[in-house]
Amino acid sequence: MSFPTNFVWGAAASAYQIEGAWDEDGKGPSTWDMFTRTPGKIWEGHTGNIACDHYHRYKDDVAMMADLGLKAYRLSVSWPRVLPDGAGRVNDKGLDFYDRLVDELLSKEIQPWVTLFHWDFPYALFLRGGWLNPESPKWFAKFTEVVVSKLSDRVKHWITLNEPQCFIGLGMGNGEHAPGFKLDMREGLLAGHHALIAHGRAIEAIRSKSKQPAQIGWSSAGGVYYPATQSPEDIAAARQATLSVYSESVWNNSWWCDPVVFGHYPEEGLRAYGEAAPRFTAAEMKVISTPMDFYGCSIFFGVAVKASSSGSVVIARQPPGHPHSHYLWKHTPTALYWGPRFFTERWKLPMVITENGMSNSGDWVSFDGRVHDAARIEFMSSNLLQLEKALREGVDVRGYFAWSIMDNFEWAEGYKHRFGLVHVDYETQRRTPKDSAYWYGDVIRSNGGALDKFASAGTDAPPYVIKETMRYINAHLSEMFNIKDLAAHMRCHPDFLSRKFKKHTGVDLSLYIRRIRIDHARELLKNPDLLIDDAAEQSGFTDRIHFSKVFRRLTGQTPGQYQRQFRVERDASLHTPLKPKNPRSVHA
Ligand code: NOJ
Repeated sequence: MSFPTNFVWGAAASAYQIEGAWDEDGKGPSTWDMFTRTPGKIWEGHTGNIACDHYHRYKDDVAMMADLGLKAYRLSVSWPRVLPDGAGRVNDKGLDFYDRLVDELLSKEIQPWVTLFHWDFPYALFLRGGWLNPESPKWFAKFTEVVVSKLSDRVKHWITLNEPQCFIGLGMGNGEHAPGFKLDMREGLLAGHHALIAHGRAIEAIRSKSKQPAQIGWSSAGGVYYPATQSPEDIAAARQATLSVYSESVWNNSWWCDPVVFGHYPEEGLRAYGEAAPRFTAAEMKVISTPMDFYGCSIFFGVAVKASSSGSVVIARQPPGHPHSHYLWKHTPTALYWGPRFFTERWKLPMVITENGMSNSGDWVSFDGRVHDAARIEFMSSNLLQLEKALREGVDVRGYFAWSIMDNFEWAEGYKHRFGLVHVDYETQRRTPKDSAYWYGDVIRSNGGALDKFASAGTDAPPYVIKETMRYINAHLSEMFNIKDLAAHMRCHPDFLSRKFKKHTGVDLSLYIRRIRIDHARELLKNPDLLIDDAAEQSGFTDRIHFSKVFRRLTGQTPGQYQRQFRVERDASLHTPLKPKNPRSVHA
């Protein structure tokens, strides 16, 4: 696997989606606090009032992250928790929460990656026009200064805005998200322009206030198109679709990322939006393009496209029955290969996958007390394998954050969706790590090696599951274990393990275990004083009869005969004078 040793393996969540404590310790309301109270806006009238109660349970949650092996955690700071009115008075108790959270993470060697805006805009500032107010970048810069002054002695990684496409497109365009506006394109893009200036101002604020050199990026969500076939025409079509600006929506990459990286809106976008495009000054564009260190993006799925005979881009529909998530998002792992490739080609910045994951409809606690989310394991492994392919081909990907560390409030969808690696029972707040959480821990510990389990067969190198199985057998020879135990250790089904083992080694797994045990016993029996019972026990056999039977079947001798013969041979060799085999060659 090509993951570099310092690859950042993390998981993410955001303040409103997990914290709860919506009005505690002096927190001011956010637009989401108000929006969730509007009848009909959120599925079954859910709110984030309590959510996962992470505000009170953060210590246990961090301990759980550490147990799972997480190396980094992407959290967001609630702006109105820190500044209840959005500007001016600082709420020390609110700021203190993040201070403690960061300490807790660091005490468990988990790197905090802090997002400054993940959609919970202060309601007080919304009443002053929100992102439509040209003052909004200054408000955001001030808020950033407060947070950075407090946390930057320990926090190094910052993300300014989370997915402007979403909070402008859904919050101001179709009204599905807070504040629930349905503005026309001109106003939506103006709000977006201010948000972009806010992004630049936040970078300036971080650079000037940070107590250590900071790594700064943002998180974009503009959509990925991938080629339906590997033909150069389809690849070109996918590139074009991924980087185009469409006049009817703000769902694109380049309108948002060109200004941030190049300092200008894309020509194609200015043409597409025409009169609706915002007026801007050179000074504003300079602020917007304040250099950042990495390009963060969330990728959950992609859309397959191909080139038509006339050269235009057409969507290549998936056949009926193509796998999809509970959200009905298609399972399209190649998006994790093509997205980073196209983005790097254009913006030439190191990439971080700030979110990737799936909402799974079958995530409930089973009779055995566990959550068996095999689909998520399959989803993440195939996505990660595609990301690995991009890395192998030279795309500079620095990190990957699973969305999400735990089930949470999915905005307008309420608690309908479960994206977590950890299941949350919202009535009891009980956390149950899903199978995928343990699996992801293995992936992290092996720096991606565990993904081998899922890599397609056909490569010569034995996959991780085989290597680890062999290692385990050798390291535990004196213990009694069977294939079921081995499979439980590898977190896979016994049949899967046996099949895979046979396929890659040509040997039956149970025969392999017996052979290794007998080889071990043969070494032990070279000691003439060792009792056969002891040899049996030390090579993991339940009793002497079974041991002798297997020994005989595999070597043609009983353990006693072997021991006697070994002794005779050894004694004979001790008494035979050493003679060169070919005396002529010695004298030549
Ligand atoms: C992106 C958003 O940042 C996050 O808040 C949301 O829950 C996930 N997508 C899943 O929709």
